[in-house]
Amino acid sequence: MALVSIKHQLVRGMQNGYAVPLFNIVDSLIADGIVAAAQAQNAPVILGLYGGHFELPNGRQQVAYARALAESVPQPVSLMLDHGASFEQCMRTIQLGFTDVMLDASKLPLDENIAQTKAVVRAAHAMGVAVEAELGHVGMGSDYQDAESLRKGFTRPDDVERFVSETGVDFLAVAIGTAHGAYAGEPHLALDLLDEIRRRVDIPLVLHGGSGLSTEQFQSAIAHGIAKVNVATDLFMTTARRLSEAATPEASYFALQRVAVESFQERCEHYLSIFGASGQAGG
Ligand code: 13P
Repeated sequence: MALVSIKHQLVRGMQNGYAVPLFNIVDSLIADGIVAAAQAQNAPVILGLYGGHFELPNGRQQVAYARALAESVPQPVSLMLDHGASFEQCMRTIQLGFTDVMLDASKLPLDENIAQTKAVVRAAHAMGVAVEAELGHVGMGSDYQDAESLRKGFTRPDDVERFVSETGVDFLAVAIGTAHGAYAGEPHLALDLLDEIRRRVDIPLVLHGGSGLSTEQFQSAIAHGIAKVNVATDLFMTTARRLSEAATPEASYFALQRVAVESFQERCEHYLSIFGASGQAGG
């Protein structure tokens, strides 16, 4: 029975130098793999449902499955709305039992991002749900070669204190050089910028676009104050490759299901381990 808000774990991770991963779920096979990894590593974990996927015809069924799965294990498992699109979407997911929500108003002007985030925080906190927001904008890996435009989206340290104090947000996603999806080129992290942000606020900081970073990059980001890392693309790419290798004419559907779940589990265990989350479920 451990479907819980991840807030306690993220604060603990920030204080003790580990990060909790959010892995995006798109079906029951990936959810099975993620939760099996949390059990094997005795680690906390976040099942992230992307706002756009929540709106798909089977969105609500996915929520029901993820909740039942989270409740079946003793490790802390959060069910989080990832990149929530609006106040209304955040409220609908909270009604369905999400324990944490992200409102992504990062493309809007600062004042509008603050106003929308503040409204979600107020309502979510009244229901015991923690809130993540994004300040600056994390772009797409496919645009990575245009370093100048990426840099324009970086989080501005001067906005951070005002954003956090006016909104009351629990976790802050920062733009420091990562991007979503596969990188066109080598990812670079602005750790000096991360240090500056870390000095200004004391809430858990979040890194989106985890796929494609090296173990050293993850570990230095965590050492410099990141307490939550989002990973998706690598899980899908690795598992698609393993399935295509296993899909011989004789392969049964059940064997392929096993390949998928085992592949998701193995990659998630890898991330739990390098983020320092293994063994942290009990705290
Ligand atoms: P990647 O798909 O690049 O790992 O990013 C995932 C993410 O940030 C989800 O919010």
